[in-house]
Amino acid sequence: TILTLDFGSQYTHLISRRLRELNVFSEMLPCTQKISELDFTPKGIILSGGPYSVYEEGSPHVDPAVFDLNVPILAICYGMQEIAYRADSSNVIAGTHREYGHSILKAQKIDGHVDRLFQDLEGSMRVWMSHGDKLAKLPEGFHTVATSDNSEYAAIAHKTEPIYGLQFHPEVTHTQNGTQLLKNFAIDICACKQDWTMDAFLEQEIAQIRELVGETGQVLGAVSGGVDSTVAAKLMTEAIGDRFWAVLVNNGLMRLNECDQVQKDLKEHLGINLTVVDASQQFLDGLKGVSDPEKKRKFIGGKFIDVFEAEAKRIEDKAAASGKAGNINFFLQGTLYPDVIESLSFKGPSATIKTHHNVGGLPERMTNGQGMQLIEPLRSLYKDEVRALGRTLGIQEELVMRHPFPGPGIAVRILGEVSQEKVDIARKADHIFISEIRKAGLYNNISQAYAAVDPSRAVGVMGDRRVYGYIIVLRAVTTTDYMTAEAFEFPWDFLQRVMNRIVNEVHGVCRVTYDITSKPPGTIELE
Ligand code: XMP
Repeated sequence: TILTLDFGSQYTHLISRRLRELNVFSEMLPCTQKISELDFTPKGIILSGGPYSVYEEGSPHVDPAVFDLNVPILAICYGMQEIAYRADSSNVIAGTHREYGHSILKAQKIDGHVDRLFQDLEGSMRVWMSHGDKLAKLPEGFHTVATSDNSEYAAIAHKTEPIYGLQFHPEVTHTQNGTQLLKNFAIDICACKQDWTMDAFLEQEIAQIRELVGETGQVLGAVSGGVDSTVAAKLMTEAIGDRFWAVLVNNGLMRLNECDQVQKDLKEHLGINLTVVDASQQFLDGLKGVSDPEKKRKFIGGKFIDVFEAEAKRIEDKAAASGKAGNINFFLQGTLYPDVIESLSFKGPSATIKTHHNVGGLPERMTNGQGMQLIEPLRSLYKDEVRALGRTLGIQEELVMRHPFPGPGIAVRILGEVSQEKVDIARKADHIFISEIRKAGLYNNISQAYAAVDPSRAVGVMGDRRVYGYIIVLRAVTTTDYMTAEAFEFPWDFLQRVMNRIVNEVHGVCRVTYDITSKPPGTIELE
């Protein structure tokens, strides 16, 4: 295990991710972690970057016991300044300007060789810098092992001990061959085994869940049929079987036949203890006369909580009647790494949990209102890792690769007021669009796609008659993080085929448009 001590840099989580890509297990803890309280002995330590200045009052510092462990240390950016500052406070100064962006790095040869850390990295490499402070001079006992255009001390190493400092960030993808550098550190210098696999992770997660929940504890969780909640639910089922209760609220705003399909997938194929609550009429009734997008979202979020809570009470009674001892005392949340706003800051992990907008305040109500403990088994994973875990759990490929779908569902894909008629039209058009995308083999090239309804009436001619119909807006985007996105470039004949099918098969529609807006300025959803 590599222990990463986090000083709060926005990049820290990428260190764990890069190490996992190398099949090396890593644990990330706040930088103030007391070494005597660790329940494992790390084979190496990484000190992350951070937004502070080491010489300022109140800035974080590591437990000095880190240096008594006698294991290799790789100190990145703030981490390197921490080491230099500890040696002598005059070693670190404010730079005259912030250095942010690419720099060209060159490993130095000492006695004809580059340092072990730069093995296979001879020559120049592009690295990513992001710092304000810098070293004024080398700490005693260190020498320079790489320089850059702007930095004499781009990489330093202790002359006799395996302690390294880097001014740049090897963990970001902008740093060319950064993974090779981390590999040199973790595998060659720390002698870590490359035995971290999804199977090993799964085994470890199951053991942790069992330990946390105990012999009798029960867990409740909301599922939507999406990747994250399905993987989390399947994982709980593997760990504690029917002591996990999944609830699917049918809000009447899911896609065509989706509720039945999810029920089949989760209950029949995956053996998840699932309860489906049909509340579609309540949602549709409540949405009458509501056309403001935020009001729609707010109503749907609030209603969802009410329905879910009522069902939770029913399940609690059922659980008690089933003779299983104990209350439902945990609430499952499929939070992923990007949902955790900041990396674990030195103020401690408790301040870092973001309420997931997916279930609009539900975790808070369940954990505070109902006194349940939150359980988040996917917290350290990225989306592609969740997908890999899903495969390891035997979840079918089609489900594992599903596009995301917003909590308020089709309601944010109908401009203005929602009605059953518009929901039906959106469903049919969406079904045609997505089926054609699948048929053309494009589904996995697109991050998210849907058909929305613009209820403005456009004029059309059908069978020699003048007609008025709704406008369908098709949207398909590619993105890696859903923060920015580009419209997908379809072949022209594909769009024509979809247009033809929609105007012919969906009654009440007379125009089809394709939204080519990027995000920003657009958003992925229409509302
Ligand atoms: P936007 O439209 O903000 O969407 O570009 C970014 C991603 O978030 C999803 N989204 C939502 N998901 N509840 C959700 O659970 C919501 O209210 C919501 N709004 C947008 C959207 O589908 C896209 O994947």
